[in-house]
Amino acid sequence: MKYKILGKTGMEVSELCMGTMSFGGHADEKESAKMFNQCRDAGINFFDCANVYEKGKSETILGKLISGSRNDFVITSKVYFPTSNDVNARGNTRKNIINSINESLMRLNTEYIDLYFLHRFDDLTPIEETMRVLEDLVKTGKVLYLGASNFAAWQIAKAIGISEKNSWNRFECIQPMYNLVKRQAEVEILPMAISENIGVINYSPTGGGLLSGKYAKNNQPTKGRLIENKMYKSRYNESKMFEIADKFTSLSKKYGCSPVSLAIAWTKGHPAITSPIIGGRNTEQLKDSLDSVKIEMTTDLRQEITDLSPNPGVATDRNEESTEHNYGQR
Ligand SMILES: NC(=O)c1ccc[n+]([C@@H]2O[C@H](COP(=O)([O-])OP(=O)(O)OC[C@H]3O[C@@H](n4cnc5c(N)ncnc54)[C@H](OP(=O)(O)O)[C@@H]3O)[C@@H](O)[C@H]2O)c1
Repeated sequence: MKYKILGKTGMEVSELCMGTMSFGGHADEKESAKMFNQCRDAGINFFDCANVYEKGKSETILGKLISGSRNDFVITSKVYFPTSNDVNARGNTRKNIINSINESLMRLNTEYIDLYFLHRFDDLTPIEETMRVLEDLVKTGKVLYLGASNFAAWQIAKAIGISEKNSWNRFECIQPMYNLVKRQAEVEILPMAISENIGVINYSPTGGGLLSGKYAKNNQPTKGRLIENKMYKSRYNESKMFEIADKFTSLSKKYGCSPVSLAIAWTKGHPAITSPIIGGRNTEQLKDSLDSVKIEMTTDLRQEITDLSPNPGVATDRNEESTEHNYGQR
């Protein structure tokens, strides 16, 4: 396992981050502990969590697993999604963030969270209010670094501008969705992260299992997240995605590696990515994800895989104006 500096911080994180979304759900406490130890043995020091995963159970389990050697780990949690029917138990408001961080710290049984994410942009709360309360969390030592997940590039850029104007701590890491069939992040988000030197930990590197080889276009399994989970079923519902998955499975056979390992290694091959977040329901599944670090993702191999899926559309239709015949080469 290699370690990488996260963005422009000095903190080092493993080249894979372990996602704990299944802890307390598909993986019971015993299986979660086995996966945690498997990751630890492989050299992972980086664990992603959220207050809403399994209604707080994931945080509680992770808290027990890190106790005793808390400072050896870089752990994350997140805030935004509703935690109860209370109208204020949601969003990126001062009230919800203060209540949520205290609850997360309690469940994680720790005095601080290394990297605290906004789980989503809040359309109703002024970003100034949110960045100000996040600054307070850093100042009081409850949080070391700040992050944003599922934000558009302009939302991240706006928030960073506000932080810098006020000499507050800024987002040092972002958490977008990124995999071979969901490449939208390549257009604006990942170039912005490189430009601003922000760490990137991408989630769903195998498309929730779509790229695991088990979802053949004409031979669907009876079990699995894309069958059982309504949100993921609709997220990955285009027949084109299943065609890409079929071609990708064949390609991984050609190279003699598991599709899961190859899918993760492909996302990691993008220069903006710090650490893909891996996930699974048991140690057997996780083995393929951990093996992704053994793959040497050459430029040619990455291109061969990239060519299986269409390039995402451009962010502006004025790109033709920057072509050589108009402005010359820079
Ligand atoms: N910020 C956010 O909004 C957000 C959203 C999602 C996830 N995340 C984070 O990112 C982490 C990883 O995301 P993800 O779980 O979506 O990653 P993923 O790698 O795209 O999907 C993992 C799922 O794929 C299937 N799978 C994995 N390995 C397999 C194997 N060897 N064989 C067959 N199936 C396999 C399993 O699902 P089945 O067994 O059910 O088929 C597994 O749960 C999460 O734990 C969480 O920490 C963040």
